[in-house]
Amino acid sequence: MSAHPPGAAGLAVLHERAGTTPFYAMDLSALDARIDAMRAALPARLQLCYAVKANPLPALLRHVSRRLDGADISSAGELSRALDAGFPGERIGFTGPGKRDAEIAAAVAAGVRICAESSGEIDRIIRIAERTGRTARVALRANPDLAVRGSRVRMNGDSFFGIDSAQLGAAITQVRAGGLEFGGLHYYCASRLLDAGEIIAIHGHCFDEALQCADAAGVALPWLNLGGGFGVATADDETALDFAPVGDHLHALDARLQAHAPHARLALEPGRYLVAEAGIYVCSVIDRKTVRGRTWLIVDGGAHQHLHATLQPDRLQPANFPMTLHPRTRSDATERVSIAGPLCAPFDVLARDVELPRAQPGDLLVVQCSGAYGASASPVNFLDHPPPPEIVY
Ligand SMILES: Cc1ncc(COP(=O)(O)O)c(C=O)c1O
Repeated sequence: MSAHPPGAAGLAVLHERAGTTPFYAMDLSALDARIDAMRAALPARLQLCYAVKANPLPALLRHVSRRLDGADISSAGELSRALDAGFPGERIGFTGPGKRDAEIAAAVAAGVRICAESSGEIDRIIRIAERTGRTARVALRANPDLAVRGSRVRMNGDSFFGIDSAQLGAAITQVRAGGLEFGGLHYYCASRLLDAGEIIAIHGHCFDEALQCADAAGVALPWLNLGGGFGVATADDETALDFAPVGDHLHALDARLQAHAPHARLALEPGRYLVAEAGIYVCSVIDRKTVRGRTWLIVDGGAHQHLHATLQPDRLQPANFPMTLHPRTRSDATERVSIAGPLCAPFDVLARDVELPRAQPGDLLVVQCSGAYGASASPVNFLDHPPPPEIVY
C-alpha cells in the first residue's frame, strides 16, 4: 500500500463530515489492502495482531477486530477499548513496564495474556491470581542483548523494558512454581525499522534465543511473539521497507517452531505499519509570511495533535511527511515553503523548504502517512486547542 490521499472532491466531503479543521481521516479500504498484503506474505498460522497504541480510535478498532487475530494493549484503558471493539480477552496481550495492580486484575479477569516485564511483576500477578481464584496466563517479555542498527527507537539492550534474557530461565521457573499458565515469550526490540535485513537479523536472534531458553527450561513454547516495529518511510532520506523477505524468513521460522512444538504459534503485533499510510491529517492555512527570505505557511494543526510529524528531538530537520496542498483557486504556480503550526514552540514545524502549489489562507493542507501515533500520541492539551475530530471512511 502506498498512500492514496483523497482528491479534491473526496476531501471536501471529509471536510464537511468533520465540520472543522484540523481533522484526522482514516481510509479503511487502504488499511484492508495493507492487512491483505501482510497476510499474503506471512505464514497462515502466524497470529497477526494490532498494537492498539498506534491508533486507538474505536471505529478503527472495531474494523480490525474483525480482520486481525488479536490486540496488544498497554493499559486498562486500552483493554476496555479492545474488549469494547470485539477482541475476545484471550486474543489480547498486555505489555508495558509499569502495570498497576488494578490493571493486572482487570487483565486476569478478562483472560488476557499478560506479558510480564519483571520478576516483581510476576510476583504481583501470582498474588492477584490467588486472591481472585483465577488462573492467569503469563508470557515473558524478554530483553535480548542484541545491537539493533537502523532505529532511533530501541527497546532492548540497556533499556528498562522486559526481562534480561539471562534471567528468563529463572522467570519461567517462577511462573510455573506460582501456579500461573506459561503463555510463551514476547520480544519487541525497536520501532521504525525500514531495513528488511535488520528485521530478519532481529527475528532470527530472538527466535533462536527463545527456543534455546524453552529447551533449557524443559518447556514447550506455546506462543512466540516477535513484536512489531516495521517502519513506514515518511522522511526524504528514508526508503520504504521491503516486507517480502521478512515474510519469507518468518515462513522458515514457523516451520522450525512447528518442529519444536506442533501447536506453538508465532505472533506479530505491528501498529504503525498497519495503519500509518491509511490515515491523513488535514489542516487549514491560516497565514503566510516571509521571514529572512524563507516563506512560511502557518496552519491550524501541528505538534499538539501530530507530534510525530513535526520537528522531533532526534532530528535536525522536520520529517517533511508527504503532503498535498489544495488551493481553492486553481493555478499551476508552485513555491518553496516551510510550514509551521499554531503553537508558541519552535519545534512546531511540519515541513521545511518543500515545493507545493502556491497557497492562500483558507486552503487545505493534507499530511499523509498520519494514521499512526497521531492525536493519541500528542500533547493535545497544550495551549487548549479543541481536540481534532477523527473520522473513518
Ligand atoms: C510492546 C509493543 N508492541 C507493539 C508496538 C507497536 O510498534 P510499531 O507501531 O512500531 O509497530 C509497540 C510500540 O511501542 C510496543 O511497545
